[in-house]
Amino acid sequence: MTVDKSLIHEVNQSLGRCILHSGFMEKFYTNFKASHPSIPPFFVKTNMATQHKLLKEGITFLLMSAGGSAFAQTEMKKLGVRHDPSHLNVKPELYRYWVEALMKTVKEFDQNFTAELDKKWRTALQIGIQQMIDSYQTPQKLA
Ligand code: HEM
Repeated sequence: MTVDKSLIHEVNQSLGRCILHSGFMEKFYTNFKASHPSIPPFFVKTNMATQHKLLKEGITFLLMSAGGSAFAQTEMKKLGVRHDPSHLNVKPELYRYWVEALMKTVKEFDQNFTAELDKKWRTALQIGIQQMIDSYQTPQKLA
């Protein structure tokens, strides 16, 4: 399943506006960690500067994958394995905190944010999120 490319384009532009502000990724992790007590312990040993760069890439892959990019779909598969029960063990119920923290941060940073754009973001994210949850429930080895 893929999402209409013009929707992905709009969401990508919104991401671009957010990332222009240097504090975007930092604020996302502040919001994410504050959203549920089980989140901060995951990141105690994380180099957050590196993580900010990796997540920027990760969100781009997630959006490109929803738009139908085969390369991004392979990258999403790898991310699914990284978060599965044998690796980071990120339980499916934690993804909604990730989405809410991201949307809260986008709302704060994108000067063109609207309720309609919020909906578009969520539509674009949904496929990749479901893929990560499926990887958790049916862990796969990478080919
Ligand atoms: C679709 C949503 C998510 C995306 C796109 C995403 C993306 C990423 C990326 C790109 C990395 C770096 C991978 C690498 O090390 O090569 C990563 C690592 C990580 N993610 Fe996620 N993630 C998501 C959801 C979550 C959630 C819900 C949690 C829950 C706490 C989480 C916890 C972590 C942790 C603990 C790491 C490793 C940090 C470290 O290396 O110390 N992620 N994630």
